[in-house]
Amino acid sequence: MNGKQRVELTWIGKENRPRLEPRILLEGLELSHHAQHRIDKSDLFDNRLVFGDNLLALKALEQEFIGRIKCIYIDPPYNTGSAWDHYQDGLEHSLWLSMIRERLVILRRLLADDGAIWISIDDNECHYLKVLMDEIFGRQNFVANVIWQKIFSPKSTARHLSDMHDHILLFARDKEKWTRNLLPRSEEHNKSYKNPDDDPRGVWTSGDLSARNYYSVGVYPITTPAGRVIEGPPKGMYWRVSKEKFAELDRDNRIWWGVNRNNQPRLKRFLSDVLEGIVPQTIWFHQDVGNTQEAKKEVMAVVPEVPDVFQTTKPERLIKRILRNFNGRRRLGSRFLWRNWHNWSSRTQDGTAMDNDRARRTLPHAYRSSVEKSYRRR
Ligand SMILES: C[S@@+](CC[C@H](N)C(=O)[O-])C[C@H]1O[C@@H](n2cnc3c(N)ncnc32)[C@H](O)[C@@H]1O
Repeated sequence: MNGKQRVELTWIGKENRPRLEPRILLEGLELSHHAQHRIDKSDLFDNRLVFGDNLLALKALEQEFIGRIKCIYIDPPYNTGSAWDHYQDGLEHSLWLSMIRERLVILRRLLADDGAIWISIDDNECHYLKVLMDEIFGRQNFVANVIWQKIFSPKSTARHLSDMHDHILLFARDKEKWTRNLLPRSEEHNKSYKNPDDDPRGVWTSGDLSARNYYSVGVYPITTPAGRVIEGPPKGMYWRVSKEKFAELDRDNRIWWGVNRNNQPRLKRFLSDVLEGIVPQTIWFHQDVGNTQEAKKEVMAVVPEVPDVFQTTKPERLIKRILRNFNGRRRLGSRFLWRNWHNWSSRTQDGTAMDNDRARRTLPHAYRSSVEKSYRRR
């Protein structure tokens, strides 16, 4: 916790903290399918699957990973009040807060200085979780509340509004040190770049030359090449560049006057000058990162015998975006493996297919441990 807070979320039992003894993880050889040793350098050898209560598992991981984790994603119970087949999702609100607080405190310790944590949640607890996270991570380390469009067709049976999104809260361990990667540019992004004047610098798009931000030298008349005088920028706006800079851009053929050379001037932006990728935005549409329907199909492909797939299962594309694009310097991402468990064929993150042998070698080490035993006893 970050010292005394000016604003604090309180709940019954907040001060009751469990005393956690140090734990160790023991490998359950009967569950581990990976090779005993590396066969080639590119084998992924450090995947782990831990069975048991996650608080105890985290306690065990703490010793090895404290301050070393770059990217954490968790999908905790949303506390929707539902009773799923495999777990109760309706803890009393205070109990839920206490439960999640204990885990978050350890998760924060695991993060590297330039690491970040992503948490999926819905409207049931999101806003309480945000305040709780402010308390644990520091409000200054809040990065974003990403909205994921999990459902795309409206539910006519909804009693109030038809819920179609989840939240993904993103907090950095230290926002000053955390950096995000750019998302890859798609054909769609490049579609608006054309080259109507055969500029040798290649395709370009044009941007507005006026803006609302006050600019002391941003008001002056401009004469178009066809001889029309434009008295100044539109009312309440300013040219983005000074008169001198404008003349320099025009000499360098970076001003677009329209085909008839008599339009309001616009600034040419060359594709070769723009960022290599797209700056990530805070709304993630289902077309880009998948939805719950897609996630269900992914689960069914692996375990067709499951009668009813959990409602808010997350699609691979969503997790992939988090891991691939937002793990700072990509260290973890480059080692991340996408696996189709069903037919043992696997893909590395750049999409290269892996042969079955290599796929098998990279399955996770599985841990059954004192952690799980103590979970069972409860
Ligand atoms: C929101 S669901 C996760 C769904 C999953 N990510 C998916 O895409 O299908 C929350 C999960 O947390 C598990 N869980 C709840 N309390 C736990 C605990 N104390 N230790 C380990 N797992 C727990 C539940 O069994 C449930 O599977």
